[in-house]
Amino acid sequence: MMLKLKLEALILTIEQLPTLSDISTETLALIEADDTSIDEMSRFIERDQALALQVLKYANSPFAGTTSAVSSIKHAVVIMGLNEVKTLLLALTLQHFFASSGRDKENRRHFWKHSLICSHVANYLARSFQLRADSTVFISALIHDIGKIVVDQYLHDEFIKVVEYIEKNHTTFNEAEKAILGLTHYQIGAKLLRQWSFPEQIISQVYHHHAPWLDQRYRQGATILYLANILTKMAGFSCLAGEKKLELAQFSTSKAMRFIRESGFPLNKELLARLLTDISHLLQDADDFF
Ligand SMILES: [Fe+2]
Ligand SMILES: [Fe+2]
Repeated sequence: MMLKLKLEALILTIEQLPTLSDISTETLALIEADDTSIDEMSRFIERDQALALQVLKYANSPFAGTTSAVSSIKHAVVIMGLNEVKTLLLALTLQHFFASSGRDKENRRHFWKHSLICSHVANYLARSFQLRADSTVFISALIHDIGKIVVDQYLHDEFIKVVEYIEKNHTTFNEAEKAILGLTHYQIGAKLLRQWSFPEQIISQVYHHHAPWLDQRYRQGATILYLANILTKMAGFSCLAGEKKLELAQFSTSKAMRFIRESGFPLNKELLARLLTDISHLLQDADDFF
């Protein structure tokens, strides 16, 4: 298929996707509400046994950092905090929406692992830099690569070509997508999220997650997301095993690193190494959850 035709097919595919709210209006309303109480959230989760089990599983996983067993939903919500519960609810909703067929299960597992860990790392970074907790960045981090799933799910043959291109040329997703599709996953993701009426802040952060310096409006969130994505990959949780590796030494002298520092994050090579060690420690048993 010619690149231009492919591009048109891809755009049409995105435009024809069902809205997320058709599937899960109540869940989305709960995720977007600013005033959800712990009791409300707990009751919502308890109504659905499968969901309740997933939340308990997560609350007892290394992610939640709990030391004693969590056996009630309310306890789980308190321990995890509302932002993390919301992120998990959205992850489960999207996993259901983009249910994978048998042949792609392994890729999909990798994908969600990368996404959930990235959200977790963004949360960790926000705390480390003592930024005011802003729930949009955890959500942006969870869905920053959603464009990849769209291609995988609806233009699977093209997705395989992108993967092969990455593995053969040891390149990034962006470079491979530009060569094969003419459109990158951050463009596709932002287009889909706009169609789904996500808040502008989330759309902008997702769109700029590989270049936060271009985000004029929500730069702080986009920068956390950028850094969280990089640290997630450095810690060994990339979307794809064959993806180009980024080394700490190389990154710490990069222009991007200078930009992050100039944006007010007191980051140097030593702190970066310490963050990476902390994150790797935090995630050492994360495999058990997936
Ligand atoms: Fe990405
Ligand atoms: Fe990513």
